[in-house]
Amino acid sequence: MTIEAYAKINLTLEVLGTRPDGYHALRSVVIPTTLSDTICLEKADGISSDFAGGDDLCVKAAKAILPEGVGVRIEIEKRIPSGGGLGGGSADAAAVLVALNEMYSLGKSVGELVEIAARVGSDVPSLVASRTYGPVLMEGRGEKVSPLGVAIAKPFHFVLANPGVHSSTKEVFAKCVSRVAEDEKILYNMRRALESGNARLVTEVLSNDLEAPAMALHPEIVRTAELLRETVSSRVAMTGSGATVFAVVESREAAESAVRAISSKGVWALDADMYCPVV
Ligand code: C5P
Repeated sequence: MTIEAYAKINLTLEVLGTRPDGYHALRSVVIPTTLSDTICLEKADGISSDFAGGDDLCVKAAKAILPEGVGVRIEIEKRIPSGGGLGGGSADAAAVLVALNEMYSLGKSVGELVEIAARVGSDVPSLVASRTYGPVLMEGRGEKVSPLGVAIAKPFHFVLANPGVHSSTKEVFAKCVSRVAEDEKILYNMRRALESGNARLVTEVLSNDLEAPAMALHPEIVRTAELLRETVSSRVAMTGSGATVFAVVESREAAESAVRAISSKGVWALDADMYCPVV
Protein backbone atom coordinates (compact mmCIF):
# COMPACT_ATOMS: atom_id res chain seq x y z
CA MET A 1 0.00 0.00 0.00
CA THR A 2 1.23 3.52 -0.84
CA ILE A 3 0.13 6.65 0.99
CA GLU A 4 1.12 10.34 0.91
CA ALA A 5 2.19 12.03 4.17
CA TYR A 6 1.35 15.75 4.09
CA ALA A 7 3.56 18.44 5.64
CA LYS A 8 1.93 21.05 7.88
CA ILE A 9 2.28 24.75 8.46
CA ASN A 10 1.45 26.45 11.76
CA LEU A 11 -0.43 29.62 10.81
CA THR A 12 -0.53 30.61 14.48
CA LEU A 13 1.37 29.12 17.41
CA GLU A 14 0.83 30.42 20.94
CA VAL A 15 2.90 29.10 23.83
CA LEU A 16 0.63 29.38 26.87
CA GLY A 17 2.79 28.02 29.68
CA THR A 18 4.74 25.07 31.01
CA ARG A 19 2.83 21.96 32.01
CA PRO A 20 3.53 19.71 35.01
CA ASP A 21 4.88 17.06 32.56
CA GLY A 22 7.55 19.55 31.34
CA TYR A 23 5.89 20.09 27.95
CA HIS A 24 4.45 23.44 26.92
CA ALA A 25 0.75 24.20 26.63
CA LEU A 26 0.06 25.31 23.06
CA ARG A 27 -2.67 26.70 20.87
CA SER A 28 -2.05 26.53 17.16
CA VAL A 29 -3.88 26.65 13.84
CA VAL A 30 -2.36 23.84 11.80
CA ILE A 31 -2.97 23.63 8.06
CA PRO A 32 -1.97 20.64 5.90
CA THR A 33 -0.13 21.25 2.61
CA THR A 34 0.38 19.30 -0.60
CA LEU A 35 4.15 18.97 0.07
CA SER A 36 4.41 15.27 0.91
CA ASP A 37 6.57 12.24 1.55
CA THR A 38 5.50 8.98 -0.06
CA ILE A 39 5.25 5.97 2.24
CA CYS A 40 5.12 2.37 0.98
CA LEU A 41 3.94 -0.29 3.39
CA GLU A 42 4.11 -4.05 2.95
CA LYS A 43 2.90 -6.76 5.30
CA ALA A 44 5.93 -8.43 6.95
CA ASP A 45 6.89 -10.54 9.96
CA GLY A 46 8.50 -7.82 12.10
CA ILE A 47 8.20 -3.99 12.16
CA SER A 48 10.98 -2.18 10.26
CA SER A 49 11.67 0.84 8.07
CA ASP A 50 14.37 1.99 5.64
CA PHE A 51 14.65 5.40 7.35
CA ALA A 52 18.27 5.97 8.32
CA GLY A 53 18.30 9.19 10.36
CA GLY A 54 17.66 9.25 14.12
CA ASP A 55 14.36 8.39 15.82
CA ASP A 56 12.00 6.66 13.48
CA LEU A 57 8.52 7.87 14.32
CA CYS A 58 7.04 5.51 11.68
CA VAL A 59 8.27 2.44 13.55
CA LYS A 60 7.01 3.97 16.82
CA ALA A 61 3.60 4.56 15.18
CA ALA A 62 3.44 1.00 13.80
CA LYS A 63 4.31 -0.43 17.23
CA ALA A 64 1.64 1.75 18.84
CA ILE A 65 -1.19 0.58 16.57
CA LEU A 66 -0.40 -2.99 15.51
CA PRO A 67 -1.49 -5.96 17.61
CA GLU A 68 1.21 -8.31 18.96
CA GLY A 69 2.74 -10.52 16.26
CA VAL A 70 1.63 -8.36 13.31
CA GLY A 71 4.37 -6.67 11.26
CA VAL A 72 5.04 -4.20 8.45
CA ARG A 73 7.95 -3.08 6.29
CA ILE A 74 7.95 0.70 5.71
CA GLU A 75 9.78 2.56 2.93
CA ILE A 76 9.83 6.36 2.86
CA GLU A 77 10.51 8.62 -0.11
CA LYS A 78 11.46 11.87 1.63
CA ARG A 79 10.68 15.30 0.21
CA ILE A 80 9.78 17.17 3.40
CA PRO A 81 12.97 18.60 4.98
CA SER A 82 13.50 17.20 8.47
CA GLY A 83 13.99 19.57 11.39
CA GLY A 84 12.16 22.14 9.32
CA GLY A 85 9.01 22.79 11.37
CA LEU A 86 6.95 21.17 8.64
CA GLY A 87 6.19 18.10 10.75
CA GLY A 88 7.93 15.74 8.31
CA GLY A 89 8.57 12.82 10.67
CA SER A 90 5.19 13.35 12.37
CA ALA A 91 3.33 13.45 9.04
CA ASP A 92 4.97 10.14 8.10
CA ALA A 93 3.90 8.62 11.43
CA ALA A 94 0.34 9.95 10.97
CA ALA A 95 0.16 8.41 7.49
CA VAL A 96 1.44 5.08 8.86
CA LEU A 97 -1.35 5.02 11.48
CA VAL A 98 -4.01 5.76 8.87
CA ALA A 99 -2.57 3.23 6.40
CA LEU A 100 -2.20 0.39 8.92
CA ASN A 101 -5.73 0.98 10.19
CA GLU A 102 -6.93 0.34 6.66
CA MET A 103 -4.42 -2.35 5.64
CA TYR A 104 -5.19 -4.55 8.65
CA SER A 105 -8.90 -3.54 8.93
CA LEU A 106 -8.37 -2.40 12.54
CA GLY A 107 -11.59 -0.35 12.51
CA LYS A 108 -10.26 2.63 14.49
CA SER A 109 -12.13 5.95 14.28
CA VAL A 110 -10.30 9.27 13.66
CA GLY A 111 -10.67 10.00 17.40
CA GLU A 112 -9.07 6.67 18.33
CA LEU A 113 -6.23 7.24 15.85
CA VAL A 114 -5.65 10.69 17.39
CA GLU A 115 -5.36 9.08 20.86
CA ILE A 116 -2.78 6.58 19.61
CA ALA A 117 -0.97 9.41 17.76
CA ALA A 118 -0.52 11.35 21.03
CA ARG A 119 1.66 8.48 22.32
CA VAL A 120 3.89 8.77 19.23
CA GLY A 121 4.68 12.54 19.32
CA SER A 122 3.14 15.95 20.03
CA ASP A 123 2.65 16.87 16.35
CA VAL A 124 1.21 13.52 15.26
CA PRO A 125 -2.42 13.98 16.50
CA SER A 126 -2.93 17.19 14.49
CA LEU A 127 -1.44 15.53 11.41
CA VAL A 128 -3.82 12.56 11.72
CA ALA A 129 -6.82 14.87 12.16
CA SER A 130 -5.87 17.30 9.37
CA ARG A 131 -5.94 14.43 6.84
CA THR A 132 -9.71 14.26 7.44
CA TYR A 133 -10.63 17.79 8.47
CA GLY A 134 -8.14 20.09 6.71
CA PRO A 135 -7.16 22.96 9.03
CA VAL A 136 -7.31 21.99 12.71
CA LEU A 137 -6.95 23.69 16.08
CA MET A 138 -4.24 22.02 18.16
CA GLU A 139 -4.22 22.50 21.94
CA GLY A 140 -2.70 21.09 25.11
CA ARG A 141 0.64 19.43 24.46
CA GLY A 142 -0.62 18.76 20.96
CA GLU A 143 -2.97 15.90 21.90
CA LYS A 144 -6.20 17.94 21.77
CA VAL A 145 -7.26 18.51 18.20
CA SER A 146 -10.50 19.70 16.68
CA PRO A 147 -11.58 20.73 13.19
CA LEU A 148 -11.09 24.50 12.80
CA GLY A 149 -14.56 24.51 11.31
CA VAL A 150 -14.15 27.38 8.87
CA ALA A 151 -15.33 27.27 5.30
CA ILE A 152 -12.35 28.58 3.33
CA ALA A 153 -13.46 30.56 0.31
CA LYS A 154 -10.55 29.37 -1.87
CA PRO A 155 -7.41 27.30 -1.24
CA PHE A 156 -4.24 29.17 -0.28
CA HIS A 157 -0.81 28.83 -1.83
CA PHE A 158 2.43 28.85 0.10
CA VAL A 159 6.05 29.67 -0.60
CA LEU A 160 8.41 27.74 1.68
CA ALA A 161 12.06 28.66 2.20
CA ASN A 162 14.52 26.77 4.35
CA PRO A 163 17.97 28.03 5.41
CA GLY A 164 19.35 24.48 5.69
CA VAL A 165 19.98 24.57 9.44
CA HIS A 166 18.50 21.97 11.78
CA SER A 167 16.37 23.71 14.39
CA SER A 168 15.99 21.51 17.49
CA THR A 169 12.42 21.60 18.85
CA LYS A 170 13.70 20.90 22.35
CA GLU A 171 16.24 23.77 22.25
CA VAL A 172 13.74 26.26 20.82
CA PHE A 173 11.10 25.41 23.46
CA ALA A 174 13.74 25.69 26.19
CA LYS A 175 14.46 29.27 25.07
CA CYS A 176 10.87 30.45 24.57
CA VAL A 177 8.96 32.68 26.97
CA SER A 178 5.33 31.72 27.54
CA ARG A 179 2.53 34.23 27.19
CA VAL A 180 1.08 35.65 30.39
CA ALA A 181 -2.44 35.12 29.03
CA GLU A 182 -3.86 33.71 25.85
CA ASP A 183 -4.69 36.30 23.24
CA GLU A 184 -8.20 35.47 22.01
CA LYS A 185 -7.72 37.84 19.08
CA ILE A 186 -5.04 35.68 17.43
CA LEU A 187 -7.36 32.73 16.85
CA TYR A 188 -10.38 34.93 16.11
CA ASN A 189 -8.51 36.96 13.50
CA MET A 190 -7.04 33.87 11.85
CA ARG A 191 -10.46 32.21 11.55
CA ARG A 192 -11.93 35.36 9.93
CA ALA A 193 -8.94 35.72 7.59
CA LEU A 194 -9.14 32.08 6.48
CA GLU A 195 -12.87 32.39 5.85
CA SER A 196 -12.26 35.40 3.63
CA GLY A 197 -10.03 33.40 1.30
CA ASN A 198 -7.82 36.50 1.14
CA ALA A 199 -4.12 35.60 1.36
CA ARG A 200 -3.15 39.17 2.29
CA LEU A 201 -5.46 39.09 5.35
CA VAL A 202 -4.04 35.72 6.45
CA THR A 203 -0.53 37.11 6.07
CA GLU A 204 -1.35 40.03 8.39
CA VAL A 205 -2.40 37.75 11.26
CA LEU A 206 0.35 35.10 11.12
CA SER A 207 2.03 34.64 14.50
CA ASN A 208 4.44 32.18 16.07
CA ASP A 209 5.79 32.47 19.64
CA LEU A 210 8.68 30.13 18.74
CA GLU A 211 9.96 32.45 16.01
CA ALA A 212 12.00 34.80 18.25
CA PRO A 213 13.82 32.02 20.16
CA ALA A 214 14.50 30.05 16.95
CA MET A 215 15.84 33.17 15.23
CA ALA A 216 18.04 33.96 18.24
CA LEU A 217 19.51 30.45 18.02
CA HIS A 218 19.88 30.48 14.21
CA PRO A 219 20.57 33.85 12.50
CA GLU A 220 20.29 31.98 9.16
CA ILE A 221 16.49 31.90 9.73
CA VAL A 222 16.45 35.72 9.97
CA ARG A 223 18.34 36.04 6.66
CA THR A 224 16.06 33.54 4.89
CA ALA A 225 12.95 35.29 6.24
CA GLU A 226 14.29 38.63 4.93
CA LEU A 227 14.95 37.14 1.50
CA LEU A 228 11.44 35.68 1.38
CA ARG A 229 9.86 38.94 2.59
CA GLU A 230 11.69 40.96 -0.07
CA THR A 231 10.68 38.45 -2.74
CA VAL A 232 6.95 38.36 -1.97
CA SER A 233 6.66 41.94 -0.60
CA SER A 234 4.59 40.85 2.38
CA ARG A 235 4.92 39.58 5.94
CA VAL A 236 6.27 36.08 6.36
CA ALA A 237 6.41 33.72 9.36
CA MET A 238 8.19 30.67 10.62
CA THR A 239 6.40 27.31 10.96
CA GLY A 240 6.61 25.22 14.14
CA SER A 241 10.01 25.38 15.79
CA GLY A 242 11.65 26.25 12.45
CA ALA A 243 13.76 26.52 10.49
CA THR A 244 11.36 26.80 7.51
CA VAL A 245 9.76 30.19 6.87
CA PHE A 246 6.72 30.68 4.65
CA ALA A 247 4.59 33.23 2.87
CA VAL A 248 0.93 32.97 1.90
CA VAL A 249 0.25 34.12 -1.66
CA GLU A 250 -2.80 34.56 -3.90
CA SER A 251 -1.96 32.21 -6.75
CA ARG A 252 0.13 29.21 -7.70
CA GLU A 253 1.84 31.34 -10.35
CA ALA A 254 2.94 33.89 -7.72
CA ALA A 255 4.27 31.05 -5.56
CA GLU A 256 6.18 29.47 -8.45
CA SER A 257 7.74 32.77 -9.46
CA ALA A 258 8.87 33.46 -5.85
CA VAL A 259 10.38 29.96 -5.65
CA ARG A 260 12.38 30.60 -8.84
CA ALA A 261 13.71 33.90 -7.47
CA ILE A 262 14.73 32.41 -4.11
CA SER A 263 16.25 29.23 -5.61
CA SER A 264 18.37 31.36 -7.96
CA LYS A 265 20.05 32.72 -4.81
CA GLY A 266 20.99 29.19 -3.73
CA VAL A 267 18.34 28.91 -0.99
CA TRP A 268 16.03 25.86 -0.77
CA ALA A 269 12.53 26.96 -1.74
CA LEU A 270 9.38 25.14 -2.77
CA ASP A 271 5.77 26.04 -3.42
CA ALA A 272 2.85 24.09 -1.99
CA ASP A 273 -0.91 24.38 -1.94
CA MET A 274 -3.20 23.98 1.00
CA TYR A 275 -4.18 20.29 1.15
CA CYS A 276 -7.93 19.79 0.85
CA PRO A 277 -9.14 16.39 2.09
CA VAL A 278 -11.36 14.47 -0.33
CA VAL A 279 -14.81 14.24 1.29
O1 C5P B 1 6.55 15.32 21.58
P1 C5P B 1 7.82 15.53 20.84
O2 C5P B 1 8.80 14.41 21.06
O3 C5P B 1 7.62 15.82 19.39
O4 C5P B 1 8.50 16.86 21.44
C1 C5P B 1 9.83 17.19 21.21
C2 C5P B 1 10.30 18.18 22.28
O5 C5P B 1 9.68 19.44 22.09
C3 C5P B 1 9.94 17.78 23.69
O6 C5P B 1 10.95 16.99 24.28
C4 C5P B 1 9.82 19.11 24.40
O7 C5P B 1 11.11 19.57 24.77
C5 C5P B 1 9.31 20.05 23.31
N1 C5P B 1 7.86 20.25 23.36
C6 C5P B 1 7.32 21.04 24.35
N2 C5P B 1 5.96 21.25 24.39
C7 C5P B 1 5.15 20.71 23.44
C8 C5P B 1 5.69 19.91 22.41
C9 C5P B 1 7.06 19.70 22.40
O8 C5P B 1 8.03 21.55 25.22
N3 C5P B 1 3.84 20.92 23.50
